[in-house]
Amino acid sequence: MPTAQSDTHTGLESPRGIWWRPAHRAEKTWVAIAFAWCMVLFAMMPLWHLKGNQNPSGIRRRVEPAAFYRRTQEFIKQYQVGDDRGMPIVAPPPGSEVYLMAQTFMWTPILKLEQGKEYTLHLSSLDVNHGFSLYPVNVNFQILPGYDYGLRVTPTASGDFRIICNEFCGIGHHTMVGRVIVVDSAGQEVVFRGGNHE
Ligand code: CUA
Repeated sequence: MPTAQSDTHTGLESPRGIWWRPAHRAEKTWVAIAFAWCMVLFAMMPLWHLKGNQNPSGIRRRVEPAAFYRRTQEFIKQYQVGDDRGMPIVAPPPGSEVYLMAQTFMWTPILKLEQGKEYTLHLSSLDVNHGFSLYPVNVNFQILPGYDYGLRVTPTASGDFRIICNEFCGIGHHTMVGRVIVVDSAGQEVVFRGGNHE
């Protein structure tokens, strides 16, 4: 039964309390600081895009997984230089189109690149969503089936790097490790195991 002193707030009646009193100075100050910081972070987005020097080149196109598979096989045939327990090691010339295929639970092939040279790295998946994570460098990308994600990459350090899948893709997810070998200008590869340069 409705009464004049009802406790239910209908939106027509003011709730009880002191919410209409002006905010304390300290509260106003904090709101002002928070707002100013929001604006700084907001400005950082376009600024970082222009000045951050770490944007992916963003070449994207649709690709049928079967077509990407065929293109990768062709790439392997063209530039294969060896193999590691059956996994082909491919050394494409600088400036070329490089293909790396993700599937449960492997990365094909092993890439051998030169330090300081640019390549266009094409990434795609044959089945589900995988995550490209280059260890120990902080480089991460989503690898999706049906999309060819092209990245202009220039290896800045030589070494024997691991590609770790960082997107849960099934029972063998934790075993999905690939390899990128980067040789320096003298053609030497620095091999490190267990985090130590040898
Ligand atoms: Cu592929 Cu997890």
